[in-house]
Amino acid sequence: MMLLLLVALLLFLRGCPGLPFYNGFYYRNVMNDRGYGNGNGHGEGLFNGVKLVVETPEEALFSHRGANVTLPCHYHYEPGLGSPRPVRVKWWKLGEEGEPERDVLVAIGLRHRSFGEFRGRVHLQQENGRDVSLVIRGLRLRDYGRYRCEVIDGLEDESGVVELELRGVVFPYQPRLGRYQFNFYEAQRACEGQDAAVASFEQLFRAWEEGLNWCNAGWLLDGTVQYPITQPRQPCGGHGTAPGVRSYGQRHRSHHRYDVFCFSAAQRGRVYYLEHPEKLTLAEAEEACLEDGARIAKVGQLFAAWKFQGLDRCDAGWLADGSARYPVTHPRPNCGSTDPGVRSFGFPDPESHRFGVYCYQTS
Ligand SMILES: *[C@@H]1O[C@H](CO)[C@@H](O)[C@H](O)[C@H]1NC(C)=O
Repeated sequence: MMLLLLVALLLFLRGCPGLPFYNGFYYRNVMNDRGYGNGNGHGEGLFNGVKLVVETPEEALFSHRGANVTLPCHYHYEPGLGSPRPVRVKWWKLGEEGEPERDVLVAIGLRHRSFGEFRGRVHLQQENGRDVSLVIRGLRLRDYGRYRCEVIDGLEDESGVVELELRGVVFPYQPRLGRYQFNFYEAQRACEGQDAAVASFEQLFRAWEEGLNWCNAGWLLDGTVQYPITQPRQPCGGHGTAPGVRSYGQRHRSHHRYDVFCFSAAQRGRVYYLEHPEKLTLAEAEEACLEDGARIAKVGQLFAAWKFQGLDRCDAGWLADGSARYPVTHPRPNCGSTDPGVRSFGFPDPESHRFGVYCYQTS
């Protein structure tokens, strides 16, 4: 009852001309359109003994960048109701790792509104009346996370959570100047420049489980600085310590400087080693990719191709940031270490050194 009064009060306060939109819901207009909740005193009170149930999958969904994905959410009543009732549906993305929560979409019936970076690329599936699954088109790197689906019928309000994960790969990144150069904001820009985003702790943890072993500390999305160790050794925490993800905790985002862990997701484009008669300087390499109808590849794109296209090549090639690397999925003699990985030659002098080149073609 308190809530009803509160809503009524807010409606009254917001019921000024030109302001039908309140708190993400078309409360006033739509309720009146439906002849519903008109303040006759029992519009909302029908619900004795009837329960609203919202169902979402327990397992996380995996998808990839650029894909269209459906986050399932259905509701029903117990016991069942004969005639359909109007409900409001709200989807939002939970705030995690220090990020604020974000509105995704609100809907009543066939009307909906989407917000922020989701505007224009989300809608409700609505295959039948009680399917309020969220369709997201053209998944972006930062769309992974947990989404809450909330169904509101009068005073009843139930919700469920859907977890979306992107298939991706975590890689440590440091710039030409060497180790520990980035404050947090520069680290973010560095990852974006490599077609990637700063990795979350969960992403780094999964990479560690898959064998990532790296002795330099890097920023994560939550503003902590950590590094993953699978093989403890002397300069890296010592022999006596257990493997794990080691944390320096929260560091000052402007004043402290480290490397960064970037997250790059599987993509639709293609990375390839350009077959070319001679070795190239960096400038020639950029030009050669353009002539081939492509662009010189970024580090994140090479890592994604290594992980998801099985790109395997023993020739070092230039990348867009001026580093030279090569991807190995099947380790063999004379081709770097015994583990699969992307090998790096660091940042050779762009004019006096000559390599091949990796190009990226959007398809
Ligand atoms: C996603 O959906 C849009 C519109 O429904 C369609 O044009 C596009 O081809 C789809 N993309 C993929 C990767 O399936």
